[in-house]
Amino acid sequence: MNFANSRLGSVKASASASISAHAKAMAANGADVIDLGLGEPDFDTPPNIVAAAHQAALAGDTRYPPTGGTVALKAAVAQKFARDNGLDVAPDELIVSNGAKQVIFVALMATLEPGDEVLLTAPHFDSYASMINVMGGKPVVMPTTPDQAFRLDPDVLDNHITERTRWLILNSPSNPAGAVYESTHYRAIADVLLKYPKVLVLSDEIYEHILFDNRSFTSFMQACPDLRPRCITVNGVSKAYAMTGWRIGYAAAPKALISAMVTVQSQVSSGACAVAQAAATEALNGPQDAVAAFRAAFERRRNLVVDAVATIPGLSLVTPAGAFYALINIEPLLGDAHPDDTAFVQWLLDEVGIATVPGSVYGTPGHFRISTACDDSVLANAMHRIGDAVRSL
Ligand SMILES: Cc1ncc(COP(=O)(O)O)c(C=O)c1O
Repeated sequence: MNFANSRLGSVKASASASISAHAKAMAANGADVIDLGLGEPDFDTPPNIVAAAHQAALAGDTRYPPTGGTVALKAAVAQKFARDNGLDVAPDELIVSNGAKQVIFVALMATLEPGDEVLLTAPHFDSYASMINVMGGKPVVMPTTPDQAFRLDPDVLDNHITERTRWLILNSPSNPAGAVYESTHYRAIADVLLKYPKVLVLSDEIYEHILFDNRSFTSFMQACPDLRPRCITVNGVSKAYAMTGWRIGYAAAPKALISAMVTVQSQVSSGACAVAQAAATEALNGPQDAVAAFRAAFERRRNLVVDAVATIPGLSLVTPAGAFYALINIEPLLGDAHPDDTAFVQWLLDEVGIATVPGSVYGTPGHFRISTACDDSVLANAMHRIGDAVRSL
């Protein structure tokens, strides 16, 4: 019997999660597999954050929290926006959800009509397109080029906006390419959007703290205050504080949008886990040294991958400026043996036990993505194995 409704026809389960599950199953059967599929920091959550959760649970903070987020966490988020992004945000302009993913989901659920178009870049985080499809919306994918480091060209944006365009989704630093937008890039995009007052902007800033080569972070809302009345800034603690399992994300947006999102959330999850909100409050208010240490590790590993790719014939990449992935071009290696990136990724797993994700998942066929969120020695071993496999072709 088919249980899924028609909207699920174009929705896929998370590709990186299913590849990781496959790699784990192979490892359970004794195979020597390195999983470079999943996008989560390999570090433990810092102990002060875990202790805050423990204390909150012992103190009885175990009941339904306010739907839009606890007073304490919303105050910490407001302070974070002021400290890091120069933004003054009121409590009723904030929402806390079960991860940035749920923030994005409720934002789209609250605003999309069937057939509404949502603009994404290629490459893009695969969940965006699936969520849009679940809502009956239409993902419209705009090309970017390696020459522009996979950033959106304002003219390309202009050419893709129609009467049905509801949202533009931006993501910097980006998953999977590590593309980073500076304020001049944002300003050029905003100048196009000024011609289209109905188009909303969702800026996904979840990788804010994972930036390389001494870059400083720019938030879309900070760079383009004139667009703030139609902009939502999405962020969370998963990536910056190694807290993927705690499931806390948050956003700043105009009061009316937050209010609509809280209405949706009240019927979905009744807010986010109270104990995890206490942990996230400590993450944002407490010492920030772990964030700097994680960032330094990711930059070291980025360098390791870039150096390794340079020695492997047929592979190339645009040096990621942030996040913890590398999107590696394999076009010269595709042909009869491996017709596309999916076949190549399967071969890499079977041949040398390295789990990666095909670029087509992100709208960029001819590539594969690796996550650099594993120990340096494991990553070096994986790059060796990839090099040996490719040289054997
Ligand atoms: C671009 C992007 N946004 C959002 C998320 C989800 O974050 P969270 O764990 O807060 O739901 C991810 C996770 O991979 C991501 O890559």
